[in-house]
Amino acid sequence: MSSRLQAEKVYKVFGGRPEQTVERLRKGADREELRADGVTAAVIDASFTVEPGEIFVVMGLSGSGKSTLLRMLNGLLEPTAGTVSFDGQDLASLTAAELRTLRSRRISMVFQHFALFPHRTVLQNAAYGLEVQGVPRAEREERAAEALALCGLEGWEKSWPDELSGGMRQRVGLARALATDADLLLMDESFSALDPLIRREMQDQLLELQKTLHKTIVFITHDLNEAMRLGDRIAVMRDGEIVQIGTAEDILVRPSDEYVASFTRDVDRSKVLTAAAVMDRSTGGGEAGCDCPTATPDMPFDELCALCARTPHAVEVVDAEGARVGTVSQERLVAVIGDVDADDAVADTDAVADTDAVADTDAVADTDAADGAAKAPAACERHTTGPEGVAA
Ligand SMILES: Nc1ncnc2c1ncn2[C@@H]1O[C@H](COP(=O)(O)OP(=O)(O)OP(=O)(O)O)[C@@H](O)[C@H]1O
Ligand SMILES: [Mg+2]
Repeated sequence: MSSRLQAEKVYKVFGGRPEQTVERLRKGADREELRADGVTAAVIDASFTVEPGEIFVVMGLSGSGKSTLLRMLNGLLEPTAGTVSFDGQDLASLTAAELRTLRSRRISMVFQHFALFPHRTVLQNAAYGLEVQGVPRAEREERAAEALALCGLEGWEKSWPDELSGGMRQRVGLARALATDADLLLMDESFSALDPLIRREMQDQLLELQKTLHKTIVFITHDLNEAMRLGDRIAVMRDGEIVQIGTAEDILVRPSDEYVASFTRDVDRSKVLTAAAVMDRSTGGGEAGCDCPTATPDMPFDELCALCARTPHAVEVVDAEGARVGTVSQERLVAVIGDVDADDAVADTDAVADTDAVADTDAVADTDAADGAAKAPAACERHTTGPEGVAA
């Protein structure tokens, strides 16, 4: 199956002679140098794919090129160079009419300040996208009502926009996008104008909706915490370039450069990381060996810390099928919080711990063997007899 969206070496230049500017960029000219000539390189050499059902977040500071990139994804802007494909089809190969159809049926956009028609009811506003498509009134109102209910606005159908709070108006915008059945939602700072509490509620709502709707979503934000909460993957943009694409964990634990690292420095790791992100994968494989409590891959970091504190050995991380996918030791947790490369740090710690521990284990193992109870919990065994990680 092809990706829902694919951007390949996409450039967008405003002003001057765009093609020539792209050549200069390819040869290594930088944005500032071009700006001096009155040319803006808004997007530089962007390549990525977005898979069906994925929430792909584009994050970056103001002016980094996020909105320009987004507008190229639905053909509102034409790339100066490179290609954007939707379901395998190059947007540049479509006629203007085909592009309009694509934008009205398959792609929906939700903006930061969603404009509602003041003289239409909430229901009519939510049904607007379907009206544009020419869907008959009864059907479009039914679908719009369903979308409003999904967005928590049941009972508000007959209200007027000025009777709603900012958060509710934004929900109408979301409902309008959902009502059209579009496969792809493009959301440009859609929650940025909302109060923090409402914003969080909207994020939760989007994640909740996504569990059943499985839309493909490109979500733009300049807020790292929002990016981390929503994104299956996050693209970090800086000065027109994508400097890293990865999961929230990748970006936190394995930043591609100093810029990304500095961006993430203030993030509360305990709110973002899960057991899967911090575990030692080299100790995965096989069935869970412990009778002691285990962690699930999606266990939040704070719960994991509590569990590790109660457990005298590395905690096993066990998936839904009962397979061990990794282990988490206390040393590993400390390394992650301290922003140390967890794999290096843990290899060191284990090497030290190893010497003492092996003597102990042997003693224990002997006793166990004598009892005929040789079924030592895997994680305990692993932690004390020296993990594979040490050899590496
Ligand atoms: N139509 C245009 N003509 C000229 N320059 C433009 C145009 N649109 C955007 N730019 C410039 O391109 C650069 C990227 O702008 P863009 O709006 O994509 O950034 P952004 O990351 O969305 O910023 P923000 O977070 O402030 O919305 C900026 O320098 C902007 O001034
Ligand atoms: Mg923008």
